[in-house]
Amino acid sequence: MEKKTVLSCIQPTGNLHFGRYFGAIANWVQLQEEYDCFYGIVDYHAMTMPFSPKKLRENVWDLAFNLLACGLKKEHVFIQSLIPEHAELGWILNCFASYGQLTRMTQFKDKSAQSQEKSGEGFISAGLFGYPVLQAADILIYQASYVPVGKDQEQHLELSRNIATRFNHLMGKEFFVCPEPLYTEIPKVMSTADPNRKMSASLGEKHNIDLFADEARIRKQIRSAVTDTGDTPAGEMSPGVENLFSLLKASNHQEAHNSLMEDYNKGELKYVDLKQAVADALVSVSAPIRAKKQELLSNKKEVKNQIKASSAEIRKRAQQTVKEVKELTGLLNVRF
Ligand code: TRP
Repeated sequence: MEKKTVLSCIQPTGNLHFGRYFGAIANWVQLQEEYDCFYGIVDYHAMTMPFSPKKLRENVWDLAFNLLACGLKKEHVFIQSLIPEHAELGWILNCFASYGQLTRMTQFKDKSAQSQEKSGEGFISAGLFGYPVLQAADILIYQASYVPVGKDQEQHLELSRNIATRFNHLMGKEFFVCPEPLYTEIPKVMSTADPNRKMSASLGEKHNIDLFADEARIRKQIRSAVTDTGDTPAGEMSPGVENLFSLLKASNHQEAHNSLMEDYNKGELKYVDLKQAVADALVSVSAPIRAKKQELLSNKKEVKNQIKASSAEIRKRAQQTVKEVKELTGLLNVRF
């Protein structure tokens, strides 16, 4: 039986921290066993917020190396702007996307506020508004059945489904596969500095632990993790302690997790022991990934060429879809 297609994408902004790793990338690595996978580094998306050209290019390559170091196979990784058909299909799909639905995207509301602040001149790009349509193009161009994403992408997925359905209906053909989200079970990783907020690059350095940080830094960040601020109701686990336990679990250090949980239940848990175990766990997850990155960096040129080659190969699929879309919509299909 033919394998079903999985697609997901990540923006080349911010660093790759444990929240992104446990919440997304580790799962993407697993999915490669079972599905036909496409993983995009979406640089067109990264232009929707104020950006620096130099940083954009640096971030794209850094993320490419990071993803390969985490275990994504190079054949599955592409850089969005090397496949300009994403933007082309994005335009066509704009004409099938509901303006009203776009105005209801909650992420736009959050991000436009960030953009106004970051730009220093209250600027919000039209690209930021249209961004979910480009995301729909990323998904539909490969006829993806499943899209592993976090809950924050639910509305965007719904828009992609609506676009696919409307296109199929108006063009009179069941052409686009209607994509389904694939939510991961991994618990949300919270900031160790403020366990009531999600671990995130945009909150600042102390709110995320970089997957590629050196061992001393990882240990230091865990040592200073907030545990109990004293405002948790009696009998409940504080968010900080809960977060440390879920980091242990996400790192697959189940034995340490269970024995420390027993201590906790007996009221005998020492936070230093928990922190020690979490630091050990994170260091053991990060060490082989860092080593792999070093190895890739020692062949920098070759690895970059491989990513370009895989993008060129993946582009063929995208070109085929756009060709068919042109036929269906009445646009000319001329090859010069
Ligand atoms: N919007 C996603 C995010 O901010 C990134 C993204 C772009 C994406 N295109 C996609 C995710 C296609 C899944 C599928 O995280």
